[in-house]
Amino acid sequence: MCGIVAYIGYKQAQPILIKGLQRLEYRGYDSAGISILNGSIKTFKTKGKVSELENHIKNKNTDGEAGIAHTRWATHGVPNTKNAHPHFSKSKSLSLIHNGIIENYAILKEELVKRGYQFKSDTDTEVLVNLIEDIRINENVLLDEAVRIALNQVVGAYAIAILSDEHPNTLIAARKGSPLVIGIGEGEYFLASDATPIVEYTKNVVYLQDEEIAVLTRGEDFKIKTTNNKEKTPYVEELEWNLSELEKGGYEHFMMKEIYEQPRSIRDSMRGRLNTTTGTVSLGGIIDYEQTILAAKRITIVACGTSWHAGLVGEYLFEDIARVPVEVEYASEFRYRNPIIEEGDVVIAISQSGETADTLAAIELAKKKGAIIIGVCNVVGSSIARASHAGSYTHAGPEIGVASTKAFTAQVTVLTLMALRLAQLKGSLSRTKFMQLLMEMEALPTKVEKVLNTNGLTEKIAKKFKDVENFLYLGRGYNFPVALEGALKLKEISYIHAEGYPAAEMKHGPIALIDENMPVVFIAPRLGIYEKVVSNIQEVKARKGRVIAIVTEGDTMVREIADYVIEIPETAEYLMPILASIPLQKLAYHMAVMRGCNVDMPRNLAKSVTVE
Ligand code: AGP
Ligand code: GLU
Repeated sequence: MCGIVAYIGYKQAQPILIKGLQRLEYRGYDSAGISILNGSIKTFKTKGKVSELENHIKNKNTDGEAGIAHTRWATHGVPNTKNAHPHFSKSKSLSLIHNGIIENYAILKEELVKRGYQFKSDTDTEVLVNLIEDIRINENVLLDEAVRIALNQVVGAYAIAILSDEHPNTLIAARKGSPLVIGIGEGEYFLASDATPIVEYTKNVVYLQDEEIAVLTRGEDFKIKTTNNKEKTPYVEELEWNLSELEKGGYEHFMMKEIYEQPRSIRDSMRGRLNTTTGTVSLGGIIDYEQTILAAKRITIVACGTSWHAGLVGEYLFEDIARVPVEVEYASEFRYRNPIIEEGDVVIAISQSGETADTLAAIELAKKKGAIIIGVCNVVGSSIARASHAGSYTHAGPEIGVASTKAFTAQVTVLTLMALRLAQLKGSLSRTKFMQLLMEMEALPTKVEKVLNTNGLTEKIAKKFKDVENFLYLGRGYNFPVALEGALKLKEISYIHAEGYPAAEMKHGPIALIDENMPVVFIAPRLGIYEKVVSNIQEVKARKGRVIAIVTEGDTMVREIADYVIEIPETAEYLMPILASIPLQKLAYHMAVMRGCNVDMPRNLAKSVTVE
């Protein structure tokens, strides 16, 4: 998520910081800010682009040789100047920037309020900077020790950088879960979320590890210790990548980078919401509406494109786990067909961008009819998030590639959590089953990592099929929406015509298309009505179709008949769409690259469809 830049040394900090923020713009953000230390700390913040921040500070005195700067991707509190970073401590002595999410910020905030702290923003970050100050004063310890103690009280993910007017020669940084790189110059230090802002100044970098705190003092050697107070010897590496490689994290395209980010983004979607120790699921954003959702006779899901596919998975989940009837509607159809919505009905609107015009119009219509709107958006403070009565953010981080990948798996993750929360309240699942599912969910990011590591298999398959004109994707039950999503990904970026179908529907029409030139992707894990899917595969093979199958590890039945198999780890049926969609994202990606298509910006498509 978003970006951190910091500098301490003998040069003017401001130009380095602004340029650094510009270098990090590709990561997506909604507001920007900068603090410069020169005796006291001066802070400037603006909503919107870095260029606006640049204009804002144009004729201001920004002299100083130490500073921190941030581009924010809101997670707690809407994107505005007040919530933009840096954030100050009560005494204004500390200024802090933060990437990530402090899960237990509400409890910490409550404590601090009791101790007389007041908060100007809605962020979790402002809680952290005050917690550090509180510890420093009350326990009478040095700043780096206060940071260490505070970080031990924090649950969540962070990359932070701190300036203090009491320590004008020192910059403190720490990370857990969010990246941070230290650049080592001549008596000076650079700090950033990735190496792009650093590379033009120095090639010598240290990638800070989780739970490490760095104390960077100008003109002195720097120190790294862990949050457990163990000294660490820094491992200095030499940068080899060029700027554009660095922006994409070494991947050729944002889409691939985002596909590979999924273990992290799924973890972020679950952060603070799933607790396997207490055996609970909690979604702060919908807490006030839980009873309304429980009382609803049915739920209507509205969305477009990939988000609509996530909605279809949601339908299976809500009906199966929470036993609530669900309808999934294309927002564009819903808005024009005089739908039956009554007072107190619940409508879940799913949208990555939160700006899709059709989805927004569907919400307005449903609201007029008295529905309660629950938003599932990725962009905090977006129009759909604001138009909803309540909701849960997906926290996938900015998605740059037009074809949605990590946002889809994050949407499905959040919908699964919602279904589980309802099941918990209703008691519609046995405790054992509920606990099993929670454990399975917790294990998902690690399994996703495993799926990503298919060692060139999807590439090999793509090579084989890159010149075909048509593709068919088939799946049943939970994997039917996966088939639709797999087909959409291929269409969008490779321009190959692809259709997704429920596997058993094939014999009612699409079977006529099957011959030796037709590749058919089956999502066929050993779950649910597996044997029936195997029969559908037989039907395709009998007509000489070429079968690529996504199967569970160790599968033998499908392996015998399919032309290619891609194995994915075992998981609960409910969670299979998340694992199964990943090889399909990769397959579409490789086909598109081999066909010379513009993967990140496919023709005729926009990232956010704000027109009808
Ligand atoms: C996804 O790959 C597509 N680019 C598209 O279908 C997208 O999902 C759709 O336009 C909805 O967007 P939203 O999630 O931002 O509302
Ligand atoms: N959680 C913090 C906020 O909402 C940081 C978000 C970020 O990573 O930019 O302000």
